[in-house]
Amino acid sequence: MRKKEIITGILQQVTANLTLVVFTIVTAGVSSCAGQKKISGDSITATLELAAAQYRDMAAQLPEGRFPKTYYPKEDRFETSGSEWWVSGFYPGTLLYLHEELNDPQLREEANRIMEDLEKEQYNKTTHDLGFMMFCSFGHLNRLDPRPEYDEILMTSARSLATRFNEKVGAIRSWDSDDDSFLVIIDNMMNLELLFWASEFSGDPTYRNIAITHANTTMQHHFRPDNSSYHVINYNENTGEVKEKRTAQGAADESAWARGQAWGLYGYTVMYRETKEQKYLDQAIKIADFMLDHSHMPQDKIPYWDYNAPNIPDALRDSSAGAIMASALLELSEYVDAGKKKKYFSTAETAIKTLMSDTYLAEKGSNGGFILKHGVGHLPENSEVDVPLTYGDYYFVEALLRYKNR
Ligand code: GLY
Repeated sequence: MRKKEIITGILQQVTANLTLVVFTIVTAGVSSCAGQKKISGDSITATLELAAAQYRDMAAQLPEGRFPKTYYPKEDRFETSGSEWWVSGFYPGTLLYLHEELNDPQLREEANRIMEDLEKEQYNKTTHDLGFMMFCSFGHLNRLDPRPEYDEILMTSARSLATRFNEKVGAIRSWDSDDDSFLVIIDNMMNLELLFWASEFSGDPTYRNIAITHANTTMQHHFRPDNSSYHVINYNENTGEVKEKRTAQGAADESAWARGQAWGLYGYTVMYRETKEQKYLDQAIKIADFMLDHSHMPQDKIPYWDYNAPNIPDALRDSSAGAIMASALLELSEYVDAGKKKKYFSTAETAIKTLMSDTYLAEKGSNGGFILKHGVGHLPENSEVDVPLTYGDYYFVEALLRYKNR
């Protein structure tokens, strides 16, 4: 081979290699550009500012001693509850999240004001919802500004919740009943975080053990072979036997009520965080995959109110289920392998983007001061249907902060 041909050959090879390198760089760029667009920090801040403005409006219309529950846009009717209703911790919790991010003393003052009314619920032994009520409020306050009086309120709340535990059933009673029925709902998984805190604070393992036993019993009886969950399990309080498996807020006994699936996902993710036991991570993954792989999960990732709602695709969506799911998936995505991480993170991202769109996000000065529209509370009872819900707002703000701070 002549010298010129050798040089030409080398040059051709170099050119080919360079082309390959350039192609690889360009396609890598294209694939990351073609991937999902991130939500900008600016748009999250703008959404949090809108949320704060909404909650300032809500504070102005809230009667003394009352807690926000929902708003009926058609009738322009703002509905409130007393502190004993299960949602009472979400309003102060949302205010504290917003204050933490925006450093607005007015939000913090309003949270403090309403928590004076909430404080007495630490003695309430008639509800399983003390985790929601006290940990989503005083739990945050104690995290932001630790004080012995908040520790005491949280410990008393944990003691009250623990009185509802039944050794024979191995669970915390959700709803009271007149006979030997012992009713446990999947939502109850959300009250366990308070118990883990109580054991860590006090050094007494009783609370943690109750949480673990409850989660194990729920894992055994609430889930179907496809990893969806029943809403209600009715146990015999004396023997622990399962008497019936049914729904209360879902479309049917055998259906997958969307918020219930989201509570389970969040609850088992917390179980894994607190115990590092693989079986809880596996359970959270199974729930996530049931939801995310479901043929009825919409492209925009806001679930229909029930995965088996009869009139899909015309069924109502539940923005609260979307918000809870998004927040839980952001945490779960931190515990799983790269493939699942991408799937969970991008689903959460899509859900958050959808909730930030005009379809779901309230216009300033509208929606009774709530942040999100289109939640479904209890459709079978025709109660709180297609309205804002305090827990939708709370988990939406949590999801925004989790997304922003990761
Ligand atoms: N814990 C009641 C609900 O999710 O509606």
